[in-house]
Amino acid sequence: TTVEWEAESYDMGGHDTYMHKEISEQADAVDRVLRGRIDDRFSTVHLGGLNLDAREARGVRRIKILGCGTSYHAGQIGAQLIEELARIPADAEPASEFRYRNPVVDPDTLYVAVSQSGETYDVLAAVQELKRKGARVLGVVNVVGSAIAREADGGTYVHAGPEVCVVSTKCFTNTVVAFALLALHLGRIRDLSVADGKRIIEGLRKLPAQITEILENEDEIKKLAAEYADAKSMMFIGRVRGYPVAREASLKLKEVSYIHAEAYPASELKHGPLALIEPAMPTVAIVPDDELLEKNRAAMEEIKARSGRILAVAHQVQEKADHTIVVPKNENELDPILMGIPLQLFAYHTALAMGRDIDKPRNLAKSVTVE
Ligand code: G6P
Repeated sequence: TTVEWEAESYDMGGHDTYMHKEISEQADAVDRVLRGRIDDRFSTVHLGGLNLDAREARGVRRIKILGCGTSYHAGQIGAQLIEELARIPADAEPASEFRYRNPVVDPDTLYVAVSQSGETYDVLAAVQELKRKGARVLGVVNVVGSAIAREADGGTYVHAGPEVCVVSTKCFTNTVVAFALLALHLGRIRDLSVADGKRIIEGLRKLPAQITEILENEDEIKKLAAEYADAKSMMFIGRVRGYPVAREASLKLKEVSYIHAEAYPASELKHGPLALIEPAMPTVAIVPDDELLEKNRAAMEEIKARSGRILAVAHQVQEKADHTIVVPKNENELDPILMGIPLQLFAYHTALAMGRDIDKPRNLAKSVTVE
């Protein structure tokens, strides 16, 4: 299915910025990427444009995901989803790094190029190099008919609709959902059980309503943004599923507010960045209610012991944190899709209070079509 982008999608529709409009559209956008794709009979999903039959999908030994910026972060979550649901070794790498390091191109690896615009030069050049070497490349792309979509052997559109703000929000969310669909599809061709397929489908169906619930919390998030706006620098931490969420949230804050932010795996704090912790450097901790909850609590305790302030994004109020943004719980594998959304609003309100040019941050472009 293709989605026509109507002129009215470019209208601000009562929002003061495209960023705010696009954040607000995410429940509908996720609904769109799911629509018509769920196959309850076999507890799987149909992705019409993959050009990868079941036999070929079974032959894939590794998956390598390539993208830039926010799309690279979406690819990191995508790689985890593929490993969790399909048990295929997968990882993501910035497309530019991949291009310049003379990578080993392996015939049993499936390459996936991720791009909102479908025009980012480093991603396109990586795809062209891969194709020249005979590799199979799929695209996970937003803009229909874009250069990367045309160059790829197949793929899936993420159906986020037009994204105007330079910093990506709704397209990030939809891209991660598209990866969840790809992971479920590959999983159900391989070893993911019917029961687990059903469980993931039920989780996917809950997403739009849960996103609406998160967005209804905007007033509270706005207050929290004011609370932390004096920070010169912020630390974002997470583990495994939470780590790419932390990286993307840190990027979002940097891009729109120009506040310095770093993202670290929570477990790496003690190997260096703990030296930075003091009241002037607050921490945002991604704390899903999963197997690593206790480990994350221990990390928050270490930060508190050094007088660090903590804002947690979690499924229940965290006693160790100064503040918690509570988000609705989904299946463990799908939690990363939701946990970054309140932090998009956090970045937005921080930037708004600072009078930043939110839709066009200094020095940045929506798509980078040069080297
Ligand atoms: C630019 C934008 C980022 C974006 C990146 C990749 O740097 O400022 O927001 O994530 O390009 O863009 P793409 O269109 O390939 O997803």
